[in-house]
Amino acid sequence: LTDLTLITENGISFHVHSAVLAAVSSFILETLRRKKWQQSDSDKDAGVHRWSLSLDTDVDHVGLQAVVEFAYTGVVLSLNKDTVPQIKAAAQVLGVPRVMDLCNKERRLKEDGSTKKEEQKISALEQMTITLQSIEQLWADRVGCDVILNVNRALFHHRVILAASSDYFRGMFTSGMKESHQTCVALPFLLASELEVLIRCSYSGNLSLSWESVFEITCTALQLQFQPTFSLCLDFMQQEMEASSCLDVASFAEAYGMLELLEKANDFVLKNFWEVSATAKFLDLPAEKLVDFLCCDGLCVPSELAVFRAVISWIEADPEERLGQAGLLMTGVRFPLMTFREFREVRAVNLRMECFGDKEVELYGSALKEFGFSLPKSQDLCRVRRPKDALVLVGGDQLNPDVGQRIPSREVWFANSIRSGTGLVKDIEWRKLCEMPDKPKFRHGVAALRGKLYVVGGCYFYAKDDMMKSAYYDPKQDSWKRLPDMQEYRSNFSVVVHEECLYAIGGDKDINTNEDSVEMYNPHTDSWFVHPLDQALSGYAATVVDGGIFISGGFDCKYVCLVSMFLYHPERGTTYLAEMTHDRAQHCMEAFRGHLYVAGGVCNLRKYYTDQQACEVYDTVTDCWTDFAPLPVSHVGAASAILEEKIYILGGYCQDDYSESGLVHRYDPSTQRWENMGKLLGAVSDIRACLFQLPQHFRQ
Ligand SMILES: *[C@@H]1O[C@H](CO)[C@@H](O)[C@H](O)[C@H]1NC(C)=O
Ligand SMILES: *[C@@H]1O[C@H](CO)[C@@H](O)[C@H](O)[C@H]1NC(C)=O
Repeated sequence: LTDLTLITENGISFHVHSAVLAAVSSFILETLRRKKWQQSDSDKDAGVHRWSLSLDTDVDHVGLQAVVEFAYTGVVLSLNKDTVPQIKAAAQVLGVPRVMDLCNKERRLKEDGSTKKEEQKISALEQMTITLQSIEQLWADRVGCDVILNVNRALFHHRVILAASSDYFRGMFTSGMKESHQTCVALPFLLASELEVLIRCSYSGNLSLSWESVFEITCTALQLQFQPTFSLCLDFMQQEMEASSCLDVASFAEAYGMLELLEKANDFVLKNFWEVSATAKFLDLPAEKLVDFLCCDGLCVPSELAVFRAVISWIEADPEERLGQAGLLMTGVRFPLMTFREFREVRAVNLRMECFGDKEVELYGSALKEFGFSLPKSQDLCRVRRPKDALVLVGGDQLNPDVGQRIPSREVWFANSIRSGTGLVKDIEWRKLCEMPDKPKFRHGVAALRGKLYVVGGCYFYAKDDMMKSAYYDPKQDSWKRLPDMQEYRSNFSVVVHEECLYAIGGDKDINTNEDSVEMYNPHTDSWFVHPLDQALSGYAATVVDGGIFISGGFDCKYVCLVSMFLYHPERGTTYLAEMTHDRAQHCMEAFRGHLYVAGGVCNLRKYYTDQQACEVYDTVTDCWTDFAPLPVSHVGAASAILEEKIYILGGYCQDDYSESGLVHRYDPSTQRWENMGKLLGAVSDIRACLFQLPQHFRQ
């Protein structure tokens, strides 16, 4: 599809795309503008219109080569002190200010004696962005357009851009089909508006999508093989999926055989069934689809009663039609998992249903049979959900009641599945993953980054000098690798991941001495660096949201619990945000949909500490705190994580009597309730948690 031949005086020629060169060179742009495509009748079937330009003596092949390279790649690799004069001359004649800049920079760099290769590499991408924007401008001005797409109106375009972004057009223009000789291509089966969105995206790399438009655009992108645009559409559907759209995504994915997307959408429905069942789209589900969902073990619901209510709302959307299918649907409800109280509601609903004319309502009879007679089997009936991510618990300690001593732990556990049993009873199937090397750890930091589990600092015993600055990661679950030590001893601190680096923030470095230092670990350079906080801090909670590190509460240097909330930036330092209503330290904080939930920990009570039961949530947009349901039991020094849109608070102790319940609670923001999720196995206090993807063989 090259249409322009550039020829140097000594006869060396370069075949290029005029639109690409015009995007960097004002000389070629002007020439192209003057040539403005004249569509005379004789020209009609000319296809690509080839032309050539013979250049001035000042432009030799080295200089021209550099300009061409720059137009296509955004860099000039051949630029060095020997070639600068030739390249500058070519850039001057062809009017390429950005290559002139590179030449001038090269000269300055030579004078400084420094070589900033990295700076040049970053700007290659920026250069290409500028070039693409210039091509977009050519398109807007209709300069150098060499094809007309006739949809329901005529659209002018550059063949090279169409071919670069769509396999369909590439085939059409380059494989000798008759369209490759035509100036005008008819596509009567398309809508101009849709085609324009795709082509605009090819020129700008920018696609604005909404749930109203995404399905149509995805179809057209698929049909015309606009692969990059198609990928953007898929990303949108996966990342923006919500209760009101997931069923649409599922049926779309099914219709087009997109299995991966279908699996994601179906899993989203199961995970958020409670919310999905309240949407209008849910009421349109075909009965067989609904039964498929109901029968899944992985269906997440507050209790089986919620499943029953969902089915009833589906039936009530069209009782005449649907009552007949009640019997089939009720096979998906696990009645034996209901408590007597819940079952009373089933009976009441059944009475209501019987009012619908003469139709036989089977629902209650079979339900009662199941409810009454299969209680012993209820263990098999549990819904067992196996989340994709594993919630991993690392280290911690525990009181051994037999010897009355505390025992620090080297163990790493993970939650393999979550079981929902009778009524609201839920628990977690814990499995032991491995042991940490060397010493046990508690009050440490953990983080997962690029498939590796990092474990940093903490304590290993209860003596004065029990603190550590060592760090390890576990690359393949069964072997640990020691990292360089941190510069400071740290315990009662957090590690967060920010821009692919780990940050170990503040913490205690000795009994009752906390610190303000922050260390960053870069896995690529294998080293730690230090940027301090505003003040010494330990026992706080830290979470990353949208690239910002948020830090709440904790102990100040006098071990007073704080109400503070601030943003920490490795270069800009601290920005204070709205304060919490309640002071707290040794608590948990987790981010969910732009909100930060804090729960557990201790607060000041005159000279003492006491359990902080109140919970509150911070809105990152409005900078405001609001209370939410208090925790049912104390969790001081607990671990926390978000798994499948629910906030888990794991273990810890009760400040008032130092008892350790070992309980797990989770908060479901959609129902605004805490649920009891059973007990931990292994250590219960000062453990740390994170999500981690485990290879399949651990999960069987
Ligand atoms: C992409 O589109 C959005 C909204 O239309 C706009 O704000 C943004 O500047 C565009 N970006 C580019 C690179 O054109
Ligand atoms: C860390 O916090 C615990 C409370 O869980 C406290 O007893 C301990 O002294 C703290 N560590 C240091 C070194 O201050």
